[in-house]
Amino acid sequence: MMTNKLTPLVQSYRQQQRCLAGFNINDIYDLHAVALAANELDLPFMAMTYPPVAELNGTYLCRKMVDGFAQIANNDIFLHLDHSTSVDLCKRAIDDGYDSVMIDGSHGSLKDNIAMTKEVVAYARSAGVSVEAEIGKIMGRDVVVKSEDDYLASVADVKALYEEAGPDLVAVGIGTAHGFTPSTPKIHFNRLQEIANAIPAPLVLHGGTGIADEDIQRAIKMGIAKINIGTIVHSTYMREAHKEIDADIASAYPPVVMKSVIPRVQAVVLDRLKAVNPHL
Ligand code: 13P
Repeated sequence: MMTNKLTPLVQSYRQQQRCLAGFNINDIYDLHAVALAANELDLPFMAMTYPPVAELNGTYLCRKMVDGFAQIANNDIFLHLDHSTSVDLCKRAIDDGYDSVMIDGSHGSLKDNIAMTKEVVAYARSAGVSVEAEIGKIMGRDVVVKSEDDYLASVADVKALYEEAGPDLVAVGIGTAHGFTPSTPKIHFNRLQEIANAIPAPLVLHGGTGIADEDIQRAIKMGIAKINIGTIVHSTYMREAHKEIDADIASAYPPVVMKSVIPRVQAVVLDRLKAVNPHL
């Protein structure tokens, strides 16, 4: 069983009103950019693979890729499976040595969410792997919500999920959305405060791309100990790569293209790390 360093870290971050940044990464190039930015500020970070990345490359290869970067990182890199709706995929990631998995049962009933989370927690415990659960909904992409009640995490549900299933981190629906949003999402800070008063777990804020810096910092003061940032990283990566390739498609050569792209992605990551760590 590996030593779990992540859960104590995020627990201490919640106490200290600090926050670990998690970045959705897709391959060696965007991971490279994130690792360079984190080194620049001397910070640990979380490298998060969405299920399509974990499925395409295999969880074993993702683990080995991050192990390679651990050799050049000044601080810990925690490998995380993000938004898995599959218990089976969580188990594969745990078997292949991920540091953390998210089981996202937020789309079904509370009863099913608790049951799925409980199963993953039981499996992860013996391997020393952290588990993140979700309650309420993060809007955007294919998540369509009808009303506020549909996405806003209820305090009673958060307590039930936490107490019955025992996840290490809890992602809460408080009004944020994945990706670029037409207007700045309205975050329900009152609800965040009520949730933070109800459970001691480190809380997770999803939808980092569209959240204003001052809202990120306010949420951290209230118990958010991990933030997920994805779209702004991969969209910068794709846009900049597209520009470079388009400039001379006949002779576009990946290492040359990426040599120009990596520093541009790194700059975006650095900017987000500064927003999450205003004390630096
Ligand atoms: P963004 O894509 O809005 O940054 O959100 C990422 C996220 O929350 C991943 O879980």
